[in-house]
Amino acid sequence: MKNAEAAWSAFDSIAYVDHNYRDLQAEDAEILHIVRDHFADHFRKRGVGPVYGIDVGAGANLYPALSMLPWCDEITLFERSPANVAYLESQVDSYAENWDQFWAALCGNEDYAISCADPRERFGKVVKVRQGDIFDLERLGGRWSVGTMFFVAESMTSSHQEFTLGVERFMRTLAPGAPFAAAFMEHSQGYHTGEQFFPACDVGENEVRESLEPFADEFKVHRLKSEAGLREGYSGIILSYGWRGNSDAPVPIR
Ligand SMILES: C[S@@+](CC[C@H](N)C(=O)[O-])C[C@H]1O[C@@H](n2cnc3c(N)ncnc32)[C@H](O)[C@@H]1O
Repeated sequence: MKNAEAAWSAFDSIAYVDHNYRDLQAEDAEILHIVRDHFADHFRKRGVGPVYGIDVGAGANLYPALSMLPWCDEITLFERSPANVAYLESQVDSYAENWDQFWAALCGNEDYAISCADPRERFGKVVKVRQGDIFDLERLGGRWSVGTMFFVAESMTSSHQEFTLGVERFMRTLAPGAPFAAAFMEHSQGYHTGEQFFPACDVGENEVRESLEPFADEFKVHRLKSEAGLREGYSGIILSYGWRGNSDAPVPIR
C-alpha cells in the first residue's frame, strides 16, 4: 500500500497515545537518553544561539519536540493527518500530564533541567503545528537546524521507494551540520490505530543506514537493547542519530 492510499484522516490519535505514550516504556526511555545526550553534546560544543527545529510526521507524539525544546525558539510539528494535527493543536497551550514523565527522563541531562523551568509554558511559546505532506518538503530544504523523525518513513507506506524518499525529504529539510535523530520500526508488518490498519515497509539496519548515508556526515545506527513488545508486528527498534552532511553524496538511481 502506497502512502497516498492509506486513510490518514482516520488515524485514531487518542487510541495511539493510550497504547504507546500513556506511560513511559523502556524503549522510549532508552531513546530519550540517547537523543538528549546527542543534542545536549552538540549544542554545548557548538554554543549556537536559538535555532529552528522540526519534527517530521509528529503524529500524536510530543517527546521528539520536547527533546529539542531547550535550544529552539521555534519548533515545527509537521504532520499530514488532520486527526493528528488536531491532537497536536490541542496540546500546544498546555500539554497533557502523561508527557511529564518524558520530560523528566530528558531532565536526566542537566542541560534540560536548567534550560526550562516551565517546559509546558515554553512548549506553548515555541511549537507551531503545520499540516503537510513529507513528499512536499523539498520546497523547504535546508531551513531547520535540528530535526527529528520518529516511526514515519517506514510506517507510512509499504513501498521501499517511498521509504527512501521519506528519509531523503527529512534529511534535506536540515541545514548542513544540523544534528538529527530518527527512529524506525524494524521489520514492521503494519499496525492498527483503533480499528484502522496502516502500512509499513520492512526495513532493517542496512536499509536504514543506506537511506541516511547520502545525506549524513557522521551518524550511528543503533538497535535498541530494550525488548520489543509494545507495538504490534515488528521485531525491534532502530535509532539513528548524527549530523546532516555538508555536501550530499550522489543519490542512487531508483
Ligand atoms: C506511526 S506514526 C508516528 C507518529 C509519531 N512520530 C510517533 O513517534 O509516534 C506515522 C505518522 O506519519 C504521518 N504521516 C503519514 N504519511 C505522511 C506524509 N505523507 N507526510 C507527513 N506525515 C505523514 C502519520 O499521519 C502519522 O502521524
